[in-house]
Amino acid sequence: MRFSDKVAIVTGEARGIGKAIAVRLAKEGAKVMVVDKNPDTPKDTVEGIKKDGAQATAIAADMTKAEDVHRMVQATMEQFGKIDILVNNVGLFTFEPFLDTKEEWDRLLTLNLKSTLLCSQAVLKEMVKKSYGKIVNISSDAARIGVTTMGSYSAAKAGVMGLTKTLAREMARYNININCVCPGLVDTQMTADLVAFAPEMKEKMIKAVPFRRLATPEDAAAAVCFFASDEASYITGQSLSVNGGQAMF
Ligand SMILES: NC(=O)c1ccc[n+]([C@@H]2O[C@H](COP(=O)([O-])OP(=O)(O)OC[C@H]3O[C@@H](n4cnc5c(N)ncnc54)[C@H](O)[C@@H]3O)[C@@H](O)[C@H]2O)c1
Repeated sequence: MRFSDKVAIVTGEARGIGKAIAVRLAKEGAKVMVVDKNPDTPKDTVEGIKKDGAQATAIAADMTKAEDVHRMVQATMEQFGKIDILVNNVGLFTFEPFLDTKEEWDRLLTLNLKSTLLCSQAVLKEMVKKSYGKIVNISSDAARIGVTTMGSYSAAKAGVMGLTKTLAREMARYNININCVCPGLVDTQMTADLVAFAPEMKEKMIKAVPFRRLATPEDAAAAVCFFASDEASYITGQSLSVNGGQAMF
């Protein structure tokens, strides 16, 4: 199995893409720290993983708060003794015309970019000691192609891509790979909530995809697990779109 003896933290794992990543990593042998700000739902992810015979523990923590991030790293070290893989998955998008945007900038930059900065710094301190690590950041195709009414989100996710490249350069000397997965539109609860008010928008989005379907969380998880594996040991600072061909780079 690709992740035998590996310890992984995935942030925002109660549902959606994060849950699919946690389940896939565990299926392939990883011990997983399941992190979500929602204190109840991570237990579902953990129980599902344990039913399949793998190891997982849940912690309720808010990845935008330094003290919670520190607590998460400490809990992982106490439970599993090391951290090999970090997936910075926490994030949120909303639709708002740029000229109307005020407070949303701070909220989206904090959730998408600051959480990635905080978690990366805290976990890298442990990875550097072992001279081993894989970080996979979840950005978005919105950062690569631009999406009308997603200005703050696109800016935050472009920040995640910039951080990925810089950290990839700084951390290569410690044998640490840092890459980015950029999903197109994925069929998750967050997407369902947002398009509920305009079903025709979803149809339009699907028509723009050559495969004529949204991505599944598992499509994104497959790309994340590739970057998290030793098969990608000579790949760093890269961004991979998982978008059904909607945009080609
Ligand atoms: N859904 C899409 O179409 C899509 C497309 C491109 C990129 N993405 C990105 O993928 C990632 C996951 O998206 P999703 O659709 O699965 O989201 P989701 O809302 O379905 O799940 C996100 C999870 O993160 C948790 N969470 C939110 N804020 C948190 C915080 N501060 N600390 C800890 N946990 C927190 C939530 O409780 C939730 O369980 C995000 O970064 C998102 O921007 C999503």
